[in-house]
Amino acid sequence: MTILYDGITELVTNDPAKGDGGALGVIADGAVLVDGEMIEWVGPRGDAPAADRHVDCGGVSVVPGFVDSHAHLVFAGERSAEFAARMSGRPYAAGGIATTVAATRTADDATLSAGVRRLAGELAAAGVTTFECKSGYGLNVEDEARSLRVAREYTGETTFLGAHVVPVEYRDDRAGYVDLVTGPMLDACAPLARWIDVFCDRGAFDVDESRAILTAGIEAGLQPRMHAGQLGPSAGIALAVELGAASVDHCTYATDADIEALAAGSTVATLLPGAEFSTRAPWPDARRMIDAGVTVAIATDCNPGSSFTTSMPFCIAVAVRDMNFTPAEALWAATAGGAAALRRDDVGMLAPGKRADFVCLDAPSYIHLAYRPGVPLIRDVVRAGQKI
Ligand code: NIG
Ligand code: FE
Repeated sequence: MTILYDGITELVTNDPAKGDGGALGVIADGAVLVDGEMIEWVGPRGDAPAADRHVDCGGVSVVPGFVDSHAHLVFAGERSAEFAARMSGRPYAAGGIATTVAATRTADDATLSAGVRRLAGELAAAGVTTFECKSGYGLNVEDEARSLRVAREYTGETTFLGAHVVPVEYRDDRAGYVDLVTGPMLDACAPLARWIDVFCDRGAFDVDESRAILTAGIEAGLQPRMHAGQLGPSAGIALAVELGAASVDHCTYATDADIEALAAGSTVATLLPGAEFSTRAPWPDARRMIDAGVTVAIATDCNPGSSFTTSMPFCIAVAVRDMNFTPAEALWAATAGGAAALRRDDVGMLAPGKRADFVCLDAPSYIHLAYRPGVPLIRDVVRAGQKI
């Protein structure tokens, strides 16, 4: 059963071989032919092949579904009081994670699952058609494995983040905690995850601990990604490149040497506008990275501490306003960039053979995502050929 979607004033494909707009491959008065879950054809409406059904989108712009490559959705409770204190001047520190760990450990499975379901629903409503989900608020064998089991109900992109922080019961035995993460916790979690992540930053794990944890994860068959450079300069960025991590996330304090290393390597730099916004931190400068040739992604970092947003359009608007992305670069980073950060070649682009994931915007151009901040522009979301 094929469906032809037209009535698309501006179609962003992310296929540079198509249309105008460089990397975005923009087609004016475009059309998309979907066969089941997949895209069969994209092009100008006048060239469209015949289809079993026809849907007139009624004059919208269409962009690829957003790919959110960094989210922490398995947790209980919330930390609005911590946010309010921060907005009165208290700096953000990794210590707040312990509050969420305590709440998560006492929550039952149904509560954790309902929390992920709600946030996954918010992501979908915001145009996200692929998302990653980390553990990291369990920090013992049972609760990390349980977090990943819950995450797997909602996404295949699951990440073991036992190395989020050292939990309070191991405060005086960091080495013991690293042994736990690289031993019994990894054994329990590796079958449930695709990725392994470490928070390599002040108040979390140092670069030697991070190397040991990621190396053990790789040996267990997981692929590495990292948090680094959020709270200060971090050798973690160079480590991510050295280990061939798919992505190193935050990069708020990336140095010129880090950017040079990223440009020469295969690791995506994922920027998280919601985190700088909600922790009132300095903005990383995407311009420096993009101009140096780094592949840059934008993700929500949805979590109850540093970035409690599921809105990719909000992240795009902030990235453009405050991180020096152009609107075109920000849209690419939130779609194709996210796909690169998850090493996925089936999403992030509208082209034959890709998954039919796209978003209809109540706007004549994708530029409105940044130009009209805070306005609900997501009219329809199609994932794997199905309207959601
Ligand atoms: O990506 N940086 C580490 N982890 C999260 C914050 C977690 C929290 O504060 O609960 C982040 O920003
Ligand atoms: Fe994070």
